[in-house]
Amino acid sequence: MLAGIREVLIITKSEDLVQFKSLLHSGSQFGISIQYAIQKKPSGIAEAFIIGEEFIGNDEVCLILGDNIFYGEGFGEQLDSIDCELYATIFAYTVSDPERYGVVEIGSEGLVKSIQEKPVSPKSALAIPGIYFYPNSVIEVAKNLKPSFRGELEITDVNIHFMKNNSLRCNLMRRGTAWFDTGTFDSLNDASTFIRVIEQRQGFKISCPEEIALRKGFISKTELRLWLSTKPINEYTKYLERVLSDSELLEFEVK
Ligand code: G1P
Repeated sequence: MLAGIREVLIITKSEDLVQFKSLLHSGSQFGISIQYAIQKKPSGIAEAFIIGEEFIGNDEVCLILGDNIFYGEGFGEQLDSIDCELYATIFAYTVSDPERYGVVEIGSEGLVKSIQEKPVSPKSALAIPGIYFYPNSVIEVAKNLKPSFRGELEITDVNIHFMKNNSLRCNLMRRGTAWFDTGTFDSLNDASTFIRVIEQRQGFKISCPEEIALRKGFISKTELRLWLSTKPINEYTKYLERVLSDSELLEFEVK
């Protein structure tokens, strides 16, 4: 939403669909549209472009992995500025344990020189976070992929395809941006501690879609008030009441 994206497709396994729908509905409460699709078996991240073919239509597309969390001043603006009509764009983030991730080497003019998936001997400390921007041709690229040794359509193979065509750019994620891959119990715990500490210290909520929708002008104050009037009073709705009534708070931009 901070990147100005207002059409979202959530792809989940069938057992989880009901929970996602009951939490996020059609997205209209955030001034966006949310559709849902099912991935029948874990056939790889790149299958998203085949499942989502109709949803994507003739557009460019951004893919975000559901277990990745991003937080940082200006990160939304950095995303908003990406032009992916001709080039695919990935990100790089310095980590102490690159062997857990896709690892990238950046060459001249920000183009990608090499990519390794979970390498034993990483060529750099630059991990590839789970957020990717592609031209529309990614659908055909995904359709022509062969499953890897673990039987999955790998996102790394999509990226290697664009790299070989000299059309894969890599943006460094700023040092002040926090990125968590919450795929393990420990990393999920780390992310929740980080978010709890910042939220308690500042009094702002992180990634509160209703607040972002209001600040981005996707919904009006009246629409948010109306939506809040249908909800029980709790710590979350009290925060949104505060966002609505405290004009000083609203002056803190979210970028
Ligand atoms: C996937 C990608 C990997 C990327 C990571 C980011 O790995 O294959 O390249 O660095 O997401 O979270 P997974 O977490 O599915 O093992």
